[in-house]
Amino acid sequence: MMKTKIFHSEKDNIETLIAYAANILRQGGLVVFPTETVYGIGANALNPDAAHNIYQVKGRPSDNPLIVHVANEKDVSKYAQTITDDAMKLMEAFWPGPLTIVFNKQPIIPEAITGGLDTVAIRMPSHPIAKALIQEANVPVCAPSANISGTPSSTIFKHVHDDLNGKVDVIIDGGQSTVGLESTVLDMTTDTPVILRPGAITKSMIETIIKRDVIDTTVHITDDTIPKAPGMKYRHYAPEGDVTLLKGTHKNMITFITQQDQSIGVIGSNELCAQLSDYHTYPLGPKDDPELIARNVFLALRTMDEHNIRTIYVEAFENKELGQAIMNRLLKASNHTIIEV
Ligand code: TXA
Ligand code: MG
Repeated sequence: MMKTKIFHSEKDNIETLIAYAANILRQGGLVVFPTETVYGIGANALNPDAAHNIYQVKGRPSDNPLIVHVANEKDVSKYAQTITDDAMKLMEAFWPGPLTIVFNKQPIIPEAITGGLDTVAIRMPSHPIAKALIQEANVPVCAPSANISGTPSSTIFKHVHDDLNGKVDVIIDGGQSTVGLESTVLDMTTDTPVILRPGAITKSMIETIIKRDVIDTTVHITDDTIPKAPGMKYRHYAPEGDVTLLKGTHKNMITFITQQDQSIGVIGSNELCAQLSDYHTYPLGPKDDPELIARNVFLALRTMDEHNIRTIYVEAFENKELGQAIMNRLLKASNHTIIEV
């Protein structure tokens, strides 16, 4: 265990904390910082030893590449080889913000952070602390989500502190992440751009900007005929409790839930939870407010663990636009376990 220096952005002097944390990054240390999507564990992306420590701390397989975070668009050409006109348009439209673009990498980017790939994923976050930190560090910052590999990403200080206190040099508390789901990952190295991970920047938003189709490799997983493959239990975004998705009308969900033991937990829209006062619920937001629901999804999963709830039912949401990113995380958290009610 190391001593982790903790900062709270609403109490501490911002310039002092940014200067301290930026210096740690330059020296090869690890800094947990807030972004608008989820919290990240940052290291100097040009320092393979520092990057290696991220994998250790997270317990992450070394072939899973890290996203490089920058504070200026002009830095992209230092790390990416070809920046197409479409990539430029997307950066103009959505940066800073929750879009990560995969480019062919420049040799300066070490393979230790790309999992041996010759591509690099780059994003410019919009959170003011993330921006100021990267700017001040004056190095590209590789940062995965600040959680132990396989568990839900963290969107509040308490949850990063639970997972990472004593394992990193600095943790900066910057309040709750406003988007709440990790960035959209878009591969621009292929003839047709490919969405590798859905997020708040949706397929239709991307297509509107570049005026052509993109491929979404992530939609097919919502097909609920996919068998639950034994031995393929790929843990991802999973809390300690067992997650099952409920698909159907609220009326049928309520009939189903009220036949269950009261030790279960329910995560769903405000409308559903309001009708389950005898149960432990986590209301995510109104059904017609996907942005609020997205913001609260990881928070809700982790909160169920804090209350030691072992069986968690989650309302399945409409699988379009931002709802698709929400469902992508929930399907993984549940290992595709869906009950049609
Ligand atoms: O919102 C986010 O993207 C957050 C915040 C901290 O910025 N970061 C994040 O990082 O979610 P991580 O490491 O948890 O997820 C990165 C995703 C992984 O699915 C990884 O496989 C993919 O991006 N990725 C990274 N580099 C890639 C590359 N060169 N080619 C394809 N996929 C890549
Ligand atoms: Mg992650």
